Amino acid sequence: MNPSPHTLPGDAAQYAAAAGLDPARLPTHVAVIMDGNGRWAESRGLNRLTGHNQGYRTLKNIVMESQKLGLKCLTVYGFSTENWRRSEEEVNGLMRLMLRAMRSEIEELIQSHIRVRISGRIDSLPPDLQEEFARAEQRTAHFSGLTFNLAINYGGRAEVVDAVRLLTQQVKEGVLRAEEIDEQTIARCLYAPDLPDPDLLIRTSGELRLSNFLLWETAYSEIYVTPIYWPDFGPEQFVAALADYQRRKRRFGAVEELD
Ligand code: IPE
Ligand code: IPE
Ligand code: MG
Repeated sequence: MNPSPHTLPGDAAQYAAAAGLDPARLPTHVAVIMDGNGRWAESRGLNRLTGHNQGYRTLKNIVMESQKLGLKCLTVYGFSTENWRRSEEEVNGLMRLMLRAMRSEIEELIQSHIRVRISGRIDSLPPDLQEEFARAEQRTAHFSGLTFNLAINYGGRAEVVDAVRLLTQQVKEGVLRAEEIDEQTIARCLYAPDLPDPDLLIRTSGELRLSNFLLWETAYSEIYVTPIYWPDFGPEQFVAALADYQRRKRRFGAVEELD
């Protein structure tokens, strides 16, 4: 008998059961700062691009596990507005890797009914990568399973700047009055206004900082940091983060836990 795509085959199911994960209380939106590819490679005497390549394998695995677990939304930080400061070799290698990865994964993403979204200043990316991303978004726009939101050339401050530019344009055109600007109007001008704020933010490789990721959206996200380098992050660690989230009490400024 073929398992339905929404049952939990393999690793995710085993780890979820072992960790006592409650499928009814999963975070709706998980965001991930996939950090540590370089250190993973350097600790093995390999070059940084080998680490990024290994990080891509991890990402593929975590996207599929997210789908199997029934998560609605996964946002991952793939390239920041600050990552252009790296060597030309590393930046070019990352751009090529993203192109190759998107080309080789798109059919499986479609088969798995995963909706692909890209967040960031896409127009500064190489044209072939822009085209590949645009095609992936178009081809998967109608799916309602997991939304896989890839943050590329993404900066939290750049996102707020872009939102302010949109809003001032609307005020100039007379479609919005300045007094009408509130948190909702700002949120509607962010890159992915249809996605809820992340419930859980995971950062691998131990750094205790946001590195300009989702500054607006993570106002009340639960933060989980693991020392494990991203290429070593597997379903077991992912489920451990979800289980940790389920033990948190989210108060949103109130005294009692709020849903
Ligand atoms: C994260 O790994 C991937 C990107 C930023 C593109 P790093 O490349 O930052 O790895 P470390 O932090 O140097 O180990
Ligand atoms: C954040 O990691 C960016 C991505 C994971 C894509 P960085 O490695 O760029 O962050 P810093 O430099 O350690 O803050
Ligand atoms: Mg890093």
